[in-house]
Amino acid sequence: MNGTVRSNVVASQVRLHSEYGGVVPELATREHLRNILPVIRSALDQAGVMLSQVSVVAATQGPGLPAALLAGYTTAQAVAYSLNLPLLAIHHHEAHLYSPWIAGNPPRAAFERFEPNISLIVSGGHTLLVHVTDGLRHRVLGSTLDDAAGECFDKVAKLLALPFPGGPVLDEIAESGNAAAFEFPRSLLHEPHDNFSFSGLKTSVRYFLEKRPKLLGDATSLRDVCASVRAAIVDVLVGKTVRAARRMGVMCITASGGVSANRALRRQLAAECSRHRLRLHLADPAFCTDNAAMVGILAGQKWLAGEPPTPWDAETRPGWPLEQGANGEG
Ligand code: KG4
Ligand code: ZN
Repeated sequence: MNGTVRSNVVASQVRLHSEYGGVVPELATREHLRNILPVIRSALDQAGVMLSQVSVVAATQGPGLPAALLAGYTTAQAVAYSLNLPLLAIHHHEAHLYSPWIAGNPPRAAFERFEPNISLIVSGGHTLLVHVTDGLRHRVLGSTLDDAAGECFDKVAKLLALPFPGGPVLDEIAESGNAAAFEFPRSLLHEPHDNFSFSGLKTSVRYFLEKRPKLLGDATSLRDVCASVRAAIVDVLVGKTVRAARRMGVMCITASGGVSANRALRRQLAAECSRHRLRLHLADPAFCTDNAAMVGILAGQKWLAGEPPTPWDAETRPGWPLEQGANGEG
């Protein structure tokens, strides 16, 4: 167990759900059940490892869509139990916290470079600002009070009639737009706490479009709306993350989760970190979105640190808050 990622197999369901314009839980579950064994098989094949050589099994116990968690976690339980192997239950967001430390070729956990950081987790379901300290410890500073940043990207993309998944498509179109063309709200940016709110932005885009019914027919205006909305989201994410680091005297910022692939977010974080002499570790695009590698490297680190195995019969935890993660302090 040396922290090297031997394989990282992702079974994407984007195409399946794109027909419906969003994730359909029933379909997601069936697809997970169909994929889980072939994914495990190809992960072992690509790693050149046999099941008999495995020493610990790790899986995400929560939080997440209950049926999706069940598909992965019960399979891991069955593998661990039948081979008499220890099982380590991992918190999905705790794994995100360590994904920016996977680097190199072949990718490995560069924990020797680890330093305390303020970590921004931004995905379709969550927006979290977390203080990560030494020894796998962390404290949640803030989270979204309503929509997650990715959810906001996706909902605005839907209002703009863009194809699913909206976030990356909006990001692509925004690249050639003018971010100063329209003014959208930066909710809670200047509030003295670390929480976020994105539902007001989505509503303001809806009103904006209702007043301009012809706008979507004009390619230039569409590009400008995409760029302006993206700038509103990114200004808030970057502003609050950098402010938290400076307030707490933390010299390093990390970002992970699907939205951390956003190009404007990556550029603006880099620029602000350089301006304030903060070090920045962004998850590699391959590890921004949900992946098994981050679960594996965190599990390996926990195992080496002496974390006791999870009882084989523990249940999934769909609503598990990060504050109550194994090493949460909040
Ligand atoms: O972490 P993730 O793959 O899944 C979970 O939500 O757990 O994140 C998916 C989210 C979606 O909302 C998607 O639209 C957004 O990340 N996303 C992006 C970009 N790439 C993915 N949002 C903005 N810009 C992107 N480039
Ligand atoms: Zn995630």
